[in-house]
Amino acid sequence: MGDAGQGYARLVEERFGLRLSSRHAKQLEEAVPELVSDSGYHGAAELYVALAGGRHPELVERLAAALTVGETHFFRVRPQMEALRRVVLPELIARRAGDRALSVWSAGCSTGEEPYTVAMLLLELVPFLEQWKLQLLATDLNRSVLEVARHALYGEWSFRDTPDAVRRSFFDAEGERWRLRESVRRMVRFACHNLMSDPPPLMDPRHEGFDLILCRNVTIYFGPEAVLRLYARFAEALAPGGWLVLGPSDPTPVSGSGLELHELQDALLWRRGERPGASRDLSDGVAGSSRQRVSPQSGVSEAAARGDDADLREVWPLAHAGNRVDARRRVEAVLGMHPLRAEAHLLLGMLHLENGAAEEALASLRRATFLSPDLPMAHFGLGRAYQLLGELDRARIAFAEARRLLSAVPAEEPVSGGDGVRAGELSQAVQAQLSSLPPQRSCRVSS
Ligand SMILES: C[S@@+](CC[C@H](N)C(=O)[O-])C[C@H]1O[C@@H](n2cnc3c(N)ncnc32)[C@H](O)[C@@H]1O
Repeated sequence: MGDAGQGYARLVEERFGLRLSSRHAKQLEEAVPELVSDSGYHGAAELYVALAGGRHPELVERLAAALTVGETHFFRVRPQMEALRRVVLPELIARRAGDRALSVWSAGCSTGEEPYTVAMLLLELVPFLEQWKLQLLATDLNRSVLEVARHALYGEWSFRDTPDAVRRSFFDAEGERWRLRESVRRMVRFACHNLMSDPPPLMDPRHEGFDLILCRNVTIYFGPEAVLRLYARFAEALAPGGWLVLGPSDPTPVSGSGLELHELQDALLWRRGERPGASRDLSDGVAGSSRQRVSPQSGVSEAAARGDDADLREVWPLAHAGNRVDARRRVEAVLGMHPLRAEAHLLLGMLHLENGAAEEALASLRRATFLSPDLPMAHFGLGRAYQLLGELDRARIAFAEARRLLSAVPAEEPVSGGDGVRAGELSQAVQAQLSSLPPQRSCRVSS
């Protein structure tokens, strides 16, 4: 890098934290002349003097954007996504069930795959999400990647870690690409934001801070002082007990930063400590020492999240007495208090099925199997719902899963959510449904 190049590199680091290395030299050599010709200044040196004097900040932003890498994809770093799905989000949802307010910030979101992944996880996990005050903010310094994010039209490469079922549930094919459905898009608010100079973008003053910040594969390009400053800001911007997810190769926070390291399954995450003396309700056993291992079960206190089954026992008698509306309201009330109770979703799904409301049944039963994959009755119900919707291949898969799960249960044992139905009886029902389905179409191989 020549003298002018070094001056521009310094500007980009001061304003945006990005420490340019020798491999950026070529990009800089291409970007600066373009900037000069668009600006009307006579040469790189003259423009540099203007920029260093604080004029045309938008041009320094453009330069920084040209020098950053926007590489990203949905469900990036699977162990981290699993930790979010199984521990972090369930714990936050349970913790926030009272005020139903949740705030998440994807900082350095590039073309949007990261915040949209969080949105999809929340849709899977939270019943009645529309009743929550959800702030899902996604920011980046680069305005053109934000435009792409708002359009939400993605090519195959963005899906390299995405299960097919997720793609089918949330996207519609458009030619060779896939458009994210409006219901997910509207959950995320995108904004241009410089992590080095703009205050954290939390808009709602009632919030005590972000519950979750993701800043992955951003600080890897930052100088050490910028990293230190940014992590200190994140620690301040997080609510007590809030989580920070960094990329696996990003620099880590130093001790004394107010952030504690937690090892969740195969992922390392950071967390702001609780206020001294503050209630730690569902996160008991999570915060505390500087490094802890947390199992999915202890991340959400099962007892607290599921509650006692007594409150669901009234539901079937009510339904059988013809009070289906009351029965449904009863379950919905329980879910309002305990949004993560798989058994309650299962019951709600079965009630919807009884009413012939297949779409609603599907949504509830999918939540039940998502939260607790080993409930045979939920898979049976899913099979019935798919059958009603004419999706017979999926029905077959769901019934087969119910049969597999039931094979490990003694025939006399009552099944969860089955209103006294025993495993043996349910097995017979599953078998009958499977036999009633037309044979699966097979591929013929011509010789
Ligand atoms: C490699 S992408 C990461 C995308 C996503 N977080 C992920 O991990 O898949 C890095 C993004 O950080 C953004 N970025 C870099 N420095 C920034 C800054 N100072 N303020 C805001 N965004 C920044 C870049 O524009 C780029 O889109």
